[in-house]
Amino acid sequence: MTDQTASAPKPQQAPSQLRCIGCGAINDWATQNFRCTSCGDLLEIIYPGWKSADGIQANLSPVALRALWRQRKTSALPMDESGVWRFREILPASPDWQTIISLREGNTPLYELPGCARSAGIERLYGKHQGMNPTGSFKDTGMTVAASVARQQGFRWVACASTGNTSASMAAYAARGGMRSLVLIPEGQISWGKLSQALDYGALTCQLKTDFDGCVQVLNEVVQRTPIYLLNSVNPYRIEGQKTAALELLEQFDWQVPDHVIVPGGNLANSSALGKAFLEMKDLGLISTLPRISIIQAEGANPLVRTIRETAGKELVRVQAETMATAIRIGNPASWKKALRVLQAAGGTVEQVGEVEIALAKAEIGADGIGCEPASAVTLAGLKKLLKQGFVQPNQTVVLILTGHLLKDPEFTLKFHRGDLFSGSTKEKEARSLSQQQRAPVVLEASADAVIGTVGKFST
Ligand code: F0G
Repeated sequence: MTDQTASAPKPQQAPSQLRCIGCGAINDWATQNFRCTSCGDLLEIIYPGWKSADGIQANLSPVALRALWRQRKTSALPMDESGVWRFREILPASPDWQTIISLREGNTPLYELPGCARSAGIERLYGKHQGMNPTGSFKDTGMTVAASVARQQGFRWVACASTGNTSASMAAYAARGGMRSLVLIPEGQISWGKLSQALDYGALTCQLKTDFDGCVQVLNEVVQRTPIYLLNSVNPYRIEGQKTAALELLEQFDWQVPDHVIVPGGNLANSSALGKAFLEMKDLGLISTLPRISIIQAEGANPLVRTIRETAGKELVRVQAETMATAIRIGNPASWKKALRVLQAAGGTVEQVGEVEIALAKAEIGADGIGCEPASAVTLAGLKKLLKQGFVQPNQTVVLILTGHLLKDPEFTLKFHRGDLFSGSTKEKEARSLSQQQRAPVVLEASADAVIGTVGKFST
């Protein structure tokens, strides 16, 4: 034990608590399924220790935090090299830094999207590319925190139900942390890229004859009956890690708040996490306004859109989800109440986009030299709608959260460019727009003449 003297530095990590989002009860410990022991609603992490009797703790002043976080970017400490743990002042305290599992996640690029901006009719458009994380999706930022907690609590097994990205991320972090991982995925409904990652990282992968929502149900029973740690996004530690993308974004804008942030919506954890981060940054005085945060879903997997339009947010409308953007093929989103709270606090909206709109938007993001997976492209398709409705103005600064890497779902991309994605089911106008974006490979004789002739045809 060290001596506590009057001059001793204040602890860096603020104590955190688990609070129910429904009844507000403080839960002293988390149950296997991360539900409130009083009312069964979801839990969130709060930080009462951030405040002292005189206001915010001195070590959390905006000037001190900005300088500290920036300075850590030049540090060679593994914890500082992580774009998540670099922001540890706003994360739950870790009892033992040696047990953190990190793949140097976060620190993802913010790209300008000039071609997409032109086609949408907006002046300043950016993509925050969370697909540039170690396993190719935003899931890594939350996984480093929650998987570390699992290891610190002594779990030997971790598990998730997934549309692919969570399973890839969890399997990688479990392997790095010396834990076994169990993956439940809907049979035939996740991309090969994601499935192959889970296999390569050594997960026990079970393809269940159901959809994602069915996998969640089965997993809930599994974790009640066996000592396996649940790593789905109901786990509030995942949300804490995912918050850091918003901090990075603000840092990349030199702490100027963009007008609008647009996020894809599936299980609705990421939108909740980003919203929580912006609200906390405002509480700490790092920013003085919030960006608007809007959530976009696929038309065939639109429970949040329907919940708001049909019940004014009072009751979740579950749907039988169907979309080629398999990452967000979710009909019964766990974090819908958290996402609603964010929409209300940040004055955002929800919108839905069709399959052709998603495919076209994905090709446009690719044509800007960036690329993303289909679920991420709903953000651009949604932005176009919000611009038409006047909810977003052409002179505003908008950031699209690109959640997954282009190479996650190469089959979708190949089918799109070969013209096989919609196989004749499109209207004439849609077919024209699609063919303008398609770049099918050209098969030629092996001669320079053939190649040069083809280049000529395409040099208009
Ligand atoms: N984009 C991608 C690429 C995703 O993988 C997901 C979710 C989302 C968006 C939606 O985020 O669920 O927080 O609203 N994928 C999950 C999975 C559910 O299992 O990988 P959300």
